[in-house]
Amino acid sequence: MKTEDVKKIAMIGAGDMGHGIAASFLLGGYTVILRDIKQEFVDRGVNGIKMSLGKFRDKEKITPAAHDDCLSRLIPMVDLQEAVKDADFIIEAVPEILDLKRSVFAEIDKYAPAHAVLASNTSNMSITDIAAATGRPDKVIGYHFFNPAVLMKLVEVIKGAESSDESIQIGYDLAAKVGKVPVIVKKDSPGFVYNRINQPTGALLNKVLEAGSPTPEEFDAAFKAMMPMGPFELIDYVGIDIACHGLEYFAEVMSADYTPCDAMRALIDAGNLGKKTGRGFYDWSQGRPEIDLSKATSEYDLNHMVALQVNEACKVLDEGVCDDPAEIDLAMTNGGGSPFGPFALAQSIGYPLLVEKLEDLYQKFRLEIFKPVKTMLDGNIKV
Ligand code: 3HC
Repeated sequence: MKTEDVKKIAMIGAGDMGHGIAASFLLGGYTVILRDIKQEFVDRGVNGIKMSLGKFRDKEKITPAAHDDCLSRLIPMVDLQEAVKDADFIIEAVPEILDLKRSVFAEIDKYAPAHAVLASNTSNMSITDIAAATGRPDKVIGYHFFNPAVLMKLVEVIKGAESSDESIQIGYDLAAKVGKVPVIVKKDSPGFVYNRINQPTGALLNKVLEAGSPTPEEFDAAFKAMMPMGPFELIDYVGIDIACHGLEYFAEVMSADYTPCDAMRALIDAGNLGKKTGRGFYDWSQGRPEIDLSKATSEYDLNHMVALQVNEACKVLDEGVCDDPAEIDLAMTNGGGSPFGPFALAQSIGYPLLVEKLEDLYQKFRLEIFKPVKTMLDGNIKV
């Protein structure tokens, strides 16, 4: 199959990510089937799409005719067999449970046409493991979008051990066609590029939460002026459950340093998952939380966060997950709200200061993952 042959996209999972991805393909001119296991989940996804497209229309980013045309190409349904039976490109965004993803892929494989490419929006998990549940591992790729998927540009196109170059190319071309910025991830490795590079920051937030000081608001207030969202606010926005899954997965496959603390688990047990439940670290019942900038902690600054990113980006480079520093920076600027990638920042801040910041964090928390690696200490990466 060639990219031009792709006419119909099936989106399996209509949650936060699923509906945002579906909206992106509708805006790109494709027919999109949106499927979830219950009608109420499908309806919620359709409402999410209507909300996003409605905002675009009201702000005159799309015409009323384009808005209506997008919605006319949306086909909601519950039946999986029907959803995939004549789809050319199928994207899965079901909860981050490996066994669940594998069983969904096995079922899709049973009903999808032989030529269809199967793509997983997993945040962290092995594409090779997911692909092994199908009889077509060459046609399975990773396809990682960022929240809110309708706005964020990055799509990581991840090569599993058996993904064919053709499947990767189709995924890459499709993402570019719908206005996204695709980056190819050459090695199937936990968290790929973006989440891997941000995971040490997740470990730091976890430790700050465990210590109980500074509070999420005091912490966020120190960063809010420089980022679109405070770091804790962003976790609330994405979902504390999602962030906790990420930490648990990294604790299992990378290092126990990532183990989520009791305070994070307690929030989840209490059903306080962030924006989607109205409460997490913040109260979201009246919309985005107000963060009082006067409460900013002086214990942490932006260079601590940059240092953690650059150190992990060096590991990503050393391990060949992505072998081009400029591509890594491209991924990092398009997945979130940062205008500069880690290597560009390191070049302008200077590696020695960032190494000092890592040593400061290591002294404080004694986490091995915070230790500067050789490429970081050498400080020679240029973009
Ligand atoms: N659909 C359509 N439009 C939307 C929207 C949606 N879902 N959400 C926000 N918008 C629009 C708003 O209407 C507004 O439009 P305007 O500029 O024309 O007025 C614009 O986006 C900005 O929205 P807001 O004014 O409400 O707020 P912000 O300026 O803070 O922007 C944001 C919102 C784009 C989400 C921004 O805060 C941001 O970039 N945050 C960081 C997001 C991020 O880092 N995402 C990555 C998370 S990690 C991840 O996803 C990995 C995964 O594996 C879990």
